[in-house]
Amino acid sequence: MILLGIESSCDETAAALLANGRNVLASVINSQIDVHARYGGVVPELASRQHVRNILPVVRETLDQAGITLDQVDGIVVTQGPGLVGCLLVGFSFAKAVSLVRRIPMLGVDHLAGHLLSVFLGDDPPEFPFVAMVASGGHTSLFKVTSHTQFQLVGRTRDDAAGEAFDKVAKLLGLGYPGGPVISRLASDGDCEKIQFPRARLGPGSLDFSFSGLKTAVANHIHKTTEHGESLNIPDVCASFQEAVVDVICEKSLEAARMNQCDQIVLAGGVAANPRLRLRLKEQGTQQGISVHPAPLSYCTDNAAMIAYAGANNFLARAAIAPESDVYSRSPILTWS
Ligand code: KG4
Ligand code: ZN
Repeated sequence: MILLGIESSCDETAAALLANGRNVLASVINSQIDVHARYGGVVPELASRQHVRNILPVVRETLDQAGITLDQVDGIVVTQGPGLVGCLLVGFSFAKAVSLVRRIPMLGVDHLAGHLLSVFLGDDPPEFPFVAMVASGGHTSLFKVTSHTQFQLVGRTRDDAAGEAFDKVAKLLGLGYPGGPVISRLASDGDCEKIQFPRARLGPGSLDFSFSGLKTAVANHIHKTTEHGESLNIPDVCASFQEAVVDVICEKSLEAARMNQCDQIVLAGGVAANPRLRLRLKEQGTQQGISVHPAPLSYCTDNAAMIAYAGANNFLARAAIAPESDVYSRSPILTWS
């Protein structure tokens, strides 16, 4: 069975072809970073318009790379939410149109399910159950995952997402958008113990996160340093900020594993591409007898292979040709059970 995956929830227009629920035949991502960089973040209306321009060329390119035609596609899996509604509607309406005209069944899946299952596209998949840490630009959440379709929320951010904190700190430092890759690069030349930024722990046993205080602490540090005429050591600020984020994510992920009697942690989402986070969580997990499974680097940030995978399990039983289906901006899996 060949599935076409489509993703357009934020600023990446992506398509992928997945064979037999496991083999990625092609994965194409058109990133809009250049369009949004000058604004320091994603501008929703510009993003929707870019998706309209990109969706058809991206799907065509994906089919070309795999060397197949639409006639060989057995099903479509598309991101239904959460995300920017105007952006989601482009991918979702495109999928619906193809589904209706070609009579190909389609299935809408949750973007977060895509992230937390992306680990199965790599060489080091976990077994169910496991704890999944999904840290991206829009979300920072911990789940207990018991099957391909059962995700129980056990912790989440109360304010900013971890990726959002990277992006905001990069903006404060004039480093452009997105912040994660540039901060992690500069951090490797900095001293992570130079500045003691706060770690929000939110009380014993809490698996929630808060990153807005950390962002304010970085802003205050920049302000105080420059006010006194001193020069700002940007690598040290990056390394110390990154370490504060990494410390909290590691602590909470390990705590979530212990509290939920799991001995495996999956690390997924754009922030999971951070080399320091991957290293520290692996090291600490090993010390505590917990195996850590980071998503493959190429599937950490938004892509459609993870979306196709999230719909592949039992696809025919779940899919339909459904002209009345719609997108959603808030994820139903982000509610406490
Ligand atoms: O998963 P993703 O592509 O989009 C959302 O679903 O939000 O994640 C994008 C986020 C951005 O905030 C970006 O700064 C962050 O992931 N990111 C990183 C790194 N690479 C991307 N954060 C920290 N370190 C990185 N190396
Ligand atoms: Zn994402």
